[in-house]
Amino acid sequence: MGDGTLASWGLNKDHAACTQGLIVSPFSDLDAGMALLLKLPRGGGWLAELKKVAPVTSAEKPPGGGSQRPSVALAFTCSGLQAMGLDRDCLATFSTPFVEGMRQIDRQRRLGDDRGDIAVVSEGLVWSGNTPDPYAPDSGAVAETPVTVHAALLLYHGTPDRLADLVAHVEAALGLANVLVVRRIDMTLRGKDGEFREHFGFRDGLSQPIPFGEAILVDGKPVKEADSWHGVAAGDILIGHQDANLEPAPGPFVSEFQNGAKVLPTGHAPHGYLDLGQDGSYLVIRELRQNVRAFRASMERHAQAMTPQRDGDWLAERVIGRTKDGAALHPKGKHPTAANAFGYIEDDADGLGCPLGSHIRRANPRDGLAPSKEEGDVFLHIANRHRILRRGRKFGPAFETKPNAKRGLLFMAINTDIARQFEFVQQTWMLNPSFARLVDEIDPLVGRKGKFTVPAKPLRARVDVETFVRLAGGDYFFLPSLPALRFLETLQ
Ligand code: HEM
Repeated sequence: MGDGTLASWGLNKDHAACTQGLIVSPFSDLDAGMALLLKLPRGGGWLAELKKVAPVTSAEKPPGGGSQRPSVALAFTCSGLQAMGLDRDCLATFSTPFVEGMRQIDRQRRLGDDRGDIAVVSEGLVWSGNTPDPYAPDSGAVAETPVTVHAALLLYHGTPDRLADLVAHVEAALGLANVLVVRRIDMTLRGKDGEFREHFGFRDGLSQPIPFGEAILVDGKPVKEADSWHGVAAGDILIGHQDANLEPAPGPFVSEFQNGAKVLPTGHAPHGYLDLGQDGSYLVIRELRQNVRAFRASMERHAQAMTPQRDGDWLAERVIGRTKDGAALHPKGKHPTAANAFGYIEDDADGLGCPLGSHIRRANPRDGLAPSKEEGDVFLHIANRHRILRRGRKFGPAFETKPNAKRGLLFMAINTDIARQFEFVQQTWMLNPSFARLVDEIDPLVGRKGKFTVPAKPLRARVDVETFVRLAGGDYFFLPSLPALRFLETLQ
């Protein structure tokens, strides 16, 4: 272990059968995807109908290798569970960020979503769970988004035609069960060259946390030790497993007397309750719209104004921190070692290769915030407490085919502690104006208009960047285990 590129891990038999497949796999061999955002009726009856046409995929690996065809994942907002009839006592056992939702006023602030049209698309935020603020339910403090989302149903298939057939069947079944499809977001992974590329043209999905723990298997063997660069405790990804705090990652529970609850394990629930969280997780979804025209024009203009003069791709690579083909930047050009097994403190403490404020360095500083080489390992360990498992895909056509269409990244991240993981990454690293001793600048890729420093000797360059990415909708979702889904099906 230790090359940092291990992408394929799994779960032992017992946990694989209970866990959603999306947690262990991005279904990368299924390029065609569709996110159906749903508004739900009361009760769980519709889940039985969905099961007939598109059963939720487990983490068991199909015998022939590759992904189950089709693959399906399902997650709920807090308002969705409420709409289905989950009672208040049970809802209160979910994590606070999930219960409050992404639109809660303080959470908006920490995510940088409270900056009006600087952070949000010009028509205003389109969708969210519209979860009522539990502290001020009638205050109207958080304006409702026009579209309320109760669940995200993610469908994946091998070809666009097969996906279209599946979507048609699923929508017909949902319609009969009184479920409304309130938003459709197409999802793909690959660029023209067959590589995973986001719309600005960069390879994506290269760096991921690698879980370890009793239940984690690689090549059929349990992985009890952390990967030296990317190791995270299984419980940072899966509720009920030991997390970075050496505790079982906490999850919701339900009274043992609740109808239908017998399908749930005792797990880590208190006496008299059953475990609704075990083998589930939380899924962060943000529909991020990308302005490719502005990105390219801005990179070109500001690169030309630099001394020495550069081209747009050169600057764009500094903004990301990798080359378009995914090589990590290094003071000698590209990183001489493996694509992902690297730190910053040894060779690039000052960001002369990969700028201190670049997207990848802010999103995961690795050991780079250590004050000295000797403290590198400690800082790497600390940084790894904030890892997120990314499952996002791009939406909308390529800029080259339809320049004026809407496009972007349906950002999806799996984590068990939204505040310590996703929100920390966004607030304390990406949107922190004094990150890594920089002054008054934030993530140049996803942050709003401002400055971006490219360290260089003898003089650094400070260039302007525009707002390239804006939020169109999003919320926090609960990604239940398969037993938890069976329980939700019994809600009346
Ligand atoms: C439209 C918006 C975004 C685009 C186009 C984008 C693009 C990229 C690209 C090209 C990479 C490098 C490839 C890789 O290392 O996997 C990357 C890495 C990463 N991004 Fe983003 N990203 C976006 C938004 C976000 C957001 C909102 C977050 C989290 C709050 C985030 C977190 C990360 C993380 C954690 C990494 C891996 C860094 C590492 O471990 O070295 N990204 N992103």
